[in-house]
Amino acid sequence: MKHITHNDADLTAFGKIVDGKAIAATIRQSLKSRVKKLKEQNVIPGLAVILVGDNPASAVYVRNKLRSCAELGIASSKFLFPTDASPPDILRLIEDLNANPEVHGILVQLPLPPHFNVTDILETISASKDVDGFHLYNVGGLVVGNTVFPPCTPYGVVKLLEHERVPIEGKNVVVVGASNIVGKPMALMLMQKDATVCICHAKTRDLAQFTILADILVVAAGYPKLILAPMVKTGAVVIDVGINRLPTGQLVGDVDFEEVRKKAALITPVPGGVGPMTVTMLLENTISAAERKTAKADSISI
Ligand code: GUN
Repeated sequence: MKHITHNDADLTAFGKIVDGKAIAATIRQSLKSRVKKLKEQNVIPGLAVILVGDNPASAVYVRNKLRSCAELGIASSKFLFPTDASPPDILRLIEDLNANPEVHGILVQLPLPPHFNVTDILETISASKDVDGFHLYNVGGLVVGNTVFPPCTPYGVVKLLEHERVPIEGKNVVVVGASNIVGKPMALMLMQKDATVCICHAKTRDLAQFTILADILVVAAGYPKLILAPMVKTGAVVIDVGINRLPTGQLVGDVDFEEVRKKAALITPVPGGVGPMTVTMLLENTISAAERKTAKADSISI
């Protein structure tokens, strides 16, 4: 007999593919009313995106972000710089954008060329416009469980899990990948929800001894087929954050999808899993930034 709490996912079945695109579309629909409300107060949420260099993947991500803004009625502006751009020029632009009342969110697409000090750049973005959640102030907020702008990819994963009604409290979570953009914030967010969290990374010895314990396995390492079926617990929830382009041109994640699917209760595909959620959370953070600024302006005028 199955023992499933009424509101929880049925994790006794196998191979359900999580449709991130559909979940993202549902969330974007609900964001429309927030944009409408802002527009009724003569506020158009605005996002500025800075792209330095010609990394082809970054160019695709930025294009997706700008298109998604347009679809939701968020104003966006793009600032393109060559690979050899001078860091002081970018810092000056960020300061201008910080002071621009029509810009509510500022995003610098990563990675930056090697002659940039990433911390200098991210710390120059006003914490109140840091819709990526990478400023140390917002990272600190995340550590103490009180952040305004959760980083978009892990935030999207949390929303996916919530949408699928996956219980998190008390579960074993294994995060593979310890990046500042995904792995570390992912671990903090799930710890905040009372999961028991383990982070594995490039130096982890015998990855499988950890992954096999995971009720929820989040993989963000950037290696195709890093996670094979024998490394996954039967009935696990598998979230694949990897995006890798094979020499054939095919886009794949970090998980051996076809084989792991047979063992997992829930699994996210690549593409169409976490990716659409990342962009949706950026839209949500931009709208939040505009709402916060508008609310503040109102309270000052009273
Ligand atoms: N590069 C890869 N992911 C991200 C992200 O979420 N934000 C930014 N700014 N750059 C990225």
